[in-house]
Amino acid sequence: MDLKFTIRDLSLASEGQRKIDWIIPRMQVLNSIRKEFEKQLPFAGKKVVICLHLEAKTAYLAQVIKAGGAEVTVVASNPLSTQDDVVAALVQSGIGAHAWYNATEEEYNSHLQLALDTEPDFIIDDGGDLVSTIHTTRPELLKKVKGGAEETTTGVLRLHSMARDGVLKFPMVAVNDAQCKYLFDNRYGTGQSVWDGIMRTTNLVVAGKTAVVAGYGWCGKGVALRAKGLGARVIICEINPIKANEALMDGFEVMPMVEAAKHGDFFITVTGNMNVINKEHFIVMKSGAIMCNAGHFDIEVNVAQLKEISVSERTARTNITEYTLPNGQNLYVLAEGRLVNLAAGDGHPAEVMDMTFALQALSLEYIALNHEKLEPKVYQVNTEIDEKVAMLKLQSLGLSIDKLTEEQEAYLGSWSSEA
Ligand SMILES: NC(=O)c1ccc[n+]([C@@H]2O[C@H](COP(=O)([O-])OP(=O)(O)OC[C@H]3O[C@@H](n4cnc5c(N)ncnc54)[C@H](O)[C@@H]3O)[C@@H](O)[C@H]2O)c1
Repeated sequence: MDLKFTIRDLSLASEGQRKIDWIIPRMQVLNSIRKEFEKQLPFAGKKVVICLHLEAKTAYLAQVIKAGGAEVTVVASNPLSTQDDVVAALVQSGIGAHAWYNATEEEYNSHLQLALDTEPDFIIDDGGDLVSTIHTTRPELLKKVKGGAEETTTGVLRLHSMARDGVLKFPMVAVNDAQCKYLFDNRYGTGQSVWDGIMRTTNLVVAGKTAVVAGYGWCGKGVALRAKGLGARVIICEINPIKANEALMDGFEVMPMVEAAKHGDFFITVTGNMNVINKEHFIVMKSGAIMCNAGHFDIEVNVAQLKEISVSERTARTNITEYTLPNGQNLYVLAEGRLVNLAAGDGHPAEVMDMTFALQALSLEYIALNHEKLEPKVYQVNTEIDEKVAMLKLQSLGLSIDKLTEEQEAYLGSWSSEA
């Protein structure tokens, strides 16, 4: 195979490989899937394009898919989360790559096109950019691509919109909606890695401060839980009255953003929605307030409006932009409002991504084995796959659980009131 790559610097490969070597023993579920793939070669002779945050855990997923017989090419799902050394290590291990850190929009789009030039049979996407690019700019590939798997909430929403409008042309598995994904990755993964990103970027204390979390979905719950654990006062902003009640009963304060804006020291948006923090909020914030986003796209903090109302802006520290308002107040935005845990950190912990990427690998195998029977729509991850990942995870931790007795199974399946 003629390996194609567009990367920053191949000589960084050994440092990238060190990062990958660190996480491999910590991703035991993926390790056992790798062994299965090496025997069964579910992707033999097929091409796979993977569009994910290009850091060590993703790199290992790419290597596992390759171990299953595929010719793999990776491309970034976000220009600020790409780690150039990891991408170099992937190329060194025989995987095509088109990505570099801080790619401009033009470069990012050209990387997507270069990856698509390989004419993939299967894809893995994160946020829906790859699927959308294929459908809008490469219609000739719609017959070649047999299906794929989507990583995140925002991407799954976009896929549902495409299916609803009748434009989705191949089957996609909604990995995000599996229980082994959102219960762990979105909640505990985002919860830990967001605070890791904020703390390593700012080097400031969290205890005793006020953290405002916008969005109390799976990610928001994790971010709020860990903020509480770090000793912060936590305020939740929601648009959904049920989620707002849930936040209250979980022990958090609930109020609209225009009120919370006056109190927050840290603001974290994680809604998947746009313009959640705007001008009317900036102008009432305390000087020194720090804003960041953990939702998929950089549209939650309205940075364009903040720029408009500021008299000056400067880089205060790596990944921190300081905006000065006409009244002299300083407001700070981390990582340009992009995913703070990936653009200013290394993303979720390896043990959490072990489950997510196990789901990705098994879902892609499901597509590879079944695509001829599938329709161009959004499929949920099979319960068997979800439970298999959960069971493998327990086994990797040396844990076992109880089994239903025949009597219990019969009881749970009966409707009669007689014992
Ligand atoms: N940073 C990461 O590593 C990471 C990981 C997983 C998911 N994500 C992304 O995070 C976002 C949220 O994912 P999720 O799984 O928590 O979704 P979710 O649907 O479970 O939760 C989103 C919540 O935001 C609320 N919301 C929507 N608009 C709002 C607004 N204007 N103000 C306040 N609340 C609002 C919704 O009511 C909902 O409760 C998505 O974009 C997803 O793709 C990021």
